[in-house]
Amino acid sequence: MLRSKIGGIGYYVPEQIATNDDLTKLMDTSDEWIQERTGIKERRYGKKHDETTATMGTAAARIAIERAGITPNEIDFIIFATLSPDYYFPGSGVLLQRELGITKTEIGALDIRNQCSGFIYGLSIADQFVRTGMYKNVLLVGSEMHSMGLDYSTPGRNVTVIFGDGAGAVVVQPTENEEEGILTTKLHSDGTYAEKLAFISPGSHGGYHAKKLGLGTEEDFGFDKEIEFGEIFTTQKMMDERQLYPQMEGQFVFKLAVTKFPEVINEALDDVGLKTSDIDMLIPHQANLRISQFVQRRLGLEDHQVHNNIMKYGNTTAASIPIALCEAIDEGKVKKGDLVCLAAFGSGFTWGSALLRW
Ligand code: COA
Repeated sequence: MLRSKIGGIGYYVPEQIATNDDLTKLMDTSDEWIQERTGIKERRYGKKHDETTATMGTAAARIAIERAGITPNEIDFIIFATLSPDYYFPGSGVLLQRELGITKTEIGALDIRNQCSGFIYGLSIADQFVRTGMYKNVLLVGSEMHSMGLDYSTPGRNVTVIFGDGAGAVVVQPTENEEEGILTTKLHSDGTYAEKLAFISPGSHGGYHAKKLGLGTEEDFGFDKEIEFGEIFTTQKMMDERQLYPQMEGQFVFKLAVTKFPEVINEALDDVGLKTSDIDMLIPHQANLRISQFVQRRLGLEDHQVHNNIMKYGNTTAASIPIALCEAIDEGKVKKGDLVCLAAFGSGFTWGSALLRW
């Protein structure tokens, strides 16, 4: 049985820094509030008109491909995880293929929509393809251009201050060395609370879920009830009432996240007969520094066993794990043979973990 490993890794963050003080000029917030609740000091914003989710993903992918010792045309399969794609369709995977100059068409490109868990879901998919021998070089990219779609007014402050732009990429390859590679991945989902952290319009929902859940009428969600067919994807009412933005019940998300992170990490450890004390490096999805610190305490890990960088990049959703993993490796914090644990929780809700021997 083949095993898969991360053969190359890279990341890219845009140059433009948006500090907490920059945000205070747009909305009623403060550096103190943001740092105290989230640990975030600054985040990066892509260059409008010149950078996109796909181009940032491409920049990260070029590094990962080079470090994997291959060329773009040797990629067999692309997995692109994002919640902020360039287009509603097609997905950013094919745009990345074009940007990378991959001319062969004997490859597949899959876009996945698993928000903060996107990278873990993608890694699990890549692992299955490589283990079965179907593909040799799977390029997995997590990239987000949040800055294009946030509400920079005070009503949007609880969401907007958290998110930043960036991209991370890995090339997943086969290995016959039993001392390295992906040991296990665990994936979970629960749609009960889909609207607790969501970007619901534009979409095809037409108010259906809100009505069923008793959250409000069609009109409350920006639709004209009288319209039987035609344009209800985006309405003027949605724009006027500023409904075309992500929304979040922060405390609800926080409470669930701090339960699910340790749970799914322990599940992966149990699966391969290891203990929390065996973890050399934990890379938690960078949702909020307070969540990471809570998880660290729960697992009894020391500071040097957890890598956080949310302070400088904010929450980059599908990109946060590969960015943090790459940074930890580049800083010499991950050595050959180390047990690395990746874990994420986010919108859906979806959550997951992965254990790898570096
Ligand atoms: N600046 C200043 N005040 C803010 C603010 C901001 N950026 N955002 C919210 N507030 C205000 C609220 O309006 C509220 O004011 P009120 O009491 O007058 O109504 C008050 O702060 C408390 O709001 P609340 O949402 O309860 O704050 P919180 O302590 O839960 O912190 C989060 C908010 C978002 C930082 C926190 O809930 C969180 O991090 N949750 C998890 C989010 C997450 O990780 N999401 C990604 C998952 S992948």
